[in-house]
Amino acid sequence: MARHLITSAIPYINGIKHLGNLVGSQLPADLYARYLRQRGQEVLFLCATDEHGTPAELAAAKAGKPVAEYCAEMHDVQARIADGFRLSFDHFGRSSSLQNHKLTQAFAGRLADQGLIREVTEEQVYSVADGRFLPDRYIEGTCPNCGFESARGDQCDNCTKQLDPTDLINPHSTISGATELEVRKTKHLYLCQSRLKDELAAWIDSKTDWPILTTSIAKKWLNDGDGLQDRGITRDLDWGIPVRRGDQDWPGMEGKVFYVWFDAPIEYIACAQEWEDAGKGTDWERWWRTDKGADDVRYTQFMGKDNVPFHTLSFPATIMGTGEPWKLVDYIKSFNYLNYDGGQFSTSRGRGVFMDQALEILPPDYWRWWLLSHAPETSDAEFTWEAFQQDVNKDLADVLGNFVSRITKFCRSKFGETVPTGGATGPAEEQLITDLTTRIRAYERHMDAIEVRKAAAELRAIWVLGNEYLQAGAPWTTFKTDPETAAMQVRLGLNLIRIYAVLSAPFIPDASGTMIAAMQTDDNSWPVDVAAALTALPAGHAFAVPENLFRKITDEERAEWSERFAGVREQRQLS
Ligand code: 2FM
Ligand code: ZN
Repeated sequence: MARHLITSAIPYINGIKHLGNLVGSQLPADLYARYLRQRGQEVLFLCATDEHGTPAELAAAKAGKPVAEYCAEMHDVQARIADGFRLSFDHFGRSSSLQNHKLTQAFAGRLADQGLIREVTEEQVYSVADGRFLPDRYIEGTCPNCGFESARGDQCDNCTKQLDPTDLINPHSTISGATELEVRKTKHLYLCQSRLKDELAAWIDSKTDWPILTTSIAKKWLNDGDGLQDRGITRDLDWGIPVRRGDQDWPGMEGKVFYVWFDAPIEYIACAQEWEDAGKGTDWERWWRTDKGADDVRYTQFMGKDNVPFHTLSFPATIMGTGEPWKLVDYIKSFNYLNYDGGQFSTSRGRGVFMDQALEILPPDYWRWWLLSHAPETSDAEFTWEAFQQDVNKDLADVLGNFVSRITKFCRSKFGETVPTGGATGPAEEQLITDLTTRIRAYERHMDAIEVRKAAAELRAIWVLGNEYLQAGAPWTTFKTDPETAAMQVRLGLNLIRIYAVLSAPFIPDASGTMIAAMQTDDNSWPVDVAAALTALPAGHAFAVPENLFRKITDEERAEWSERFAGVREQRQLS
């Protein structure tokens, strides 16, 4: 049995995530974790909220709450919604945890001991009215290049020119509108990651099995002229992990915190400590320290493509730089973007469907199935209400739901609510077993390789095989002349429902649970031998006709939802 550590990129705390965020990290990570657990592997699946940085501070201020209180509440909101989507994290942690404070400070101290941290004095814009240094993107003014009036301090969105805040004409703080801005000197810590470039390049070159999306982004950043520059890992903010050198003060760094992108990935490790401290498991080091057994662990990370540079370069540099035996990632599964109905999902403009809204209108399986079967793996994908309605109605209601309902209802009406006895299998059943075996092996290969769309297509084809068998065998007709054969067909169909429940569980766990419960069995073993699996429910075994597994989305609903979610709304906040 192998051991699998799985992490999903940790979502920012400031607001509820949209479906594009969900399909780019948490949902495929859950699919993989569920699949591996079903295949008997030991899995530790971790996620957390990413709670530091200016956006969190500003969101808290907007909500009129102290930032710690805001984060605690939003963590609970995100945890509840994750449950709603059946995300099966072993622990959903917080980057603001005490464990992460200590570990981040320990990492920084160790990197300093290794001579990989240098102090840099820089000039930065200070807003007198706000009483704080302003990150570049919170300063706006007129672009010196094109005259655009809302150019940001880091870049002009109109002409794309990279800017310094001091280039702007008439600059002001976007936090308060204040124009009394000064340039002040401030000292920061830089991680000398350029010194780790060769080690990182060799490591990335060794990852020949990674998705092209992952390695192409990593190599671009590594090899571009301004690729692997040393980077600032501290900020002048109040909210964050105080800069300390291990458990010592760091002279000259008083009042500063670590940069959110320094402490966020360290939370992947701290989260395992939180998991243990919460009493959910033991021996977190067995997952993270190669000197404590983690050599046997296969570590897979899931994320959207915008997160790839941080996970292929910055975080590995942090780990390698310590010279300590921390586990490095073995496989990075990255995703393109999911667009929304002819444009982009947008958190800041509230465009698209957000996770809480999705669950208000339909149960999780509908979303899980559609999103995963359209996962943006090889290119960006697009959510449209037409496609969503059409695919859900066809795949879930017509193909899977209908199969389950036809078999169970027919059996009840002709044989009662037990698996019927009698009849012998023939060539049609032999063929079905051959076809199912081929497809189930292909499904396993795609799931093992985390080829999400291909796996979904194979699962759909497996459902279709059952319908085709039923259509061709037509037990409702056969019954009139040959009830024994009809009994055999129905017995096989009921066993197929159990197999479908098992195979479909990673995608649609609720429907899978309903199917298993209706078959009144706790045998959820994987169909390694398909012929044997088709006899798991013997003649005489009682079952129940389940409620309809899926309902169809009506044209009226589609029209209403597409209108409801088209508008640009306030950014979604804590409700
Ligand atoms: O893009 C994001 O949502 C980030 N909060 C992801 C952080 S992943 C990590 F490094 F922890
Ligand atoms: Zn411009």
